[in-house]
Amino acid sequence: MSIDGYLGSAMPQRLALSNDADFDRVDAVRAACDAILVGAATVRKDNPRLLVRTLARRDERVARGLAPSPIKVTVTGRAQLDACANFFAADDTEKLVYCASAALPTARDRFGPVATVVDGGQPVDMQRMCEDLFARGVGRLMVEGGGMVHTQFLTADLADELHLVVAPFFVGDSRARRFVGDGRFPWHPDRRATLAEVRQIDDVVLLRYALSARFRMD
Ligand SMILES: NC(=O)c1ccc[n+]([C@@H]2O[C@H](COP(=O)([O-])OP(=O)(O)OC[C@H]3O[C@@H](n4cnc5c(N)ncnc54)[C@H](OP(=O)(O)O)[C@@H]3O)[C@@H](O)[C@H]2O)c1
Repeated sequence: MSIDGYLGSAMPQRLALSNDADFDRVDAVRAACDAILVGAATVRKDNPRLLVRTLARRDERVARGLAPSPIKVTVTGRAQLDACANFFAADDTEKLVYCASAALPTARDRFGPVATVVDGGQPVDMQRMCEDLFARGVGRLMVEGGGMVHTQFLTADLADELHLVVAPFFVGDSRARRFVGDGRFPWHPDRRATLAEVRQIDDVVLLRYALSARFRMD
């Protein structure tokens, strides 16, 4: 996020906040996960590929008997996603779309040929989704945004660990998305989160918070 807590700009284009060294760190975290989740708005706006970028990391996963990149996961209420988006590319990764019950027929029609569409409830219930992912073999899920998804994971106390990276500039436009929206978070003045690590990565800073007993320093 920016110094003032924004995840991007209010413009239609993606705004890169991290630097190369931090993008490489994110790549290593991706490679260590079983699945990566982004919200449908992030699929629409950023069109991310959500793949492990480094060949050595992909090879290392394959040597461990895994797919080169983790499973891609998204969540949607309206199923208004482009089936040609990078998320759905034919890239040897499994794709899961957790869709609100009301839009299931549309979602199956649109994404059935390129992804597995799962009924997530009305709206999609993040805890139920996590339990379904676990049943599909996902032990470690990386949530890469955006703000609406962050808010639900954090307010529902579903995250074990938070990686907050602060880029050295301001966005200064309240039409942009903040890191989280309004909500009742389990961490507040009377219950402070545990700061586990602070790391400078060139011109950005990584703050790692331990949010549950399952947090492991690695
Ligand atoms: N800086 C970063 O690291 C980073 C990372 C990711 C994203 N971003 C930025 O974040 C912004 C997007 O964030 P955002 O908060 O607008 O959106 P988001 O969290 O990416 O996605 C929100 C969408 O996900 C679906 N959704 C979320 N919760 C749902 C639920 N419980 N049930 C059903 N559907 C649900 C809905 O999709 P439908 O609208 O399809 O119904 C909703 O509109 C973009 O500007 C992007 O560039 C930044």
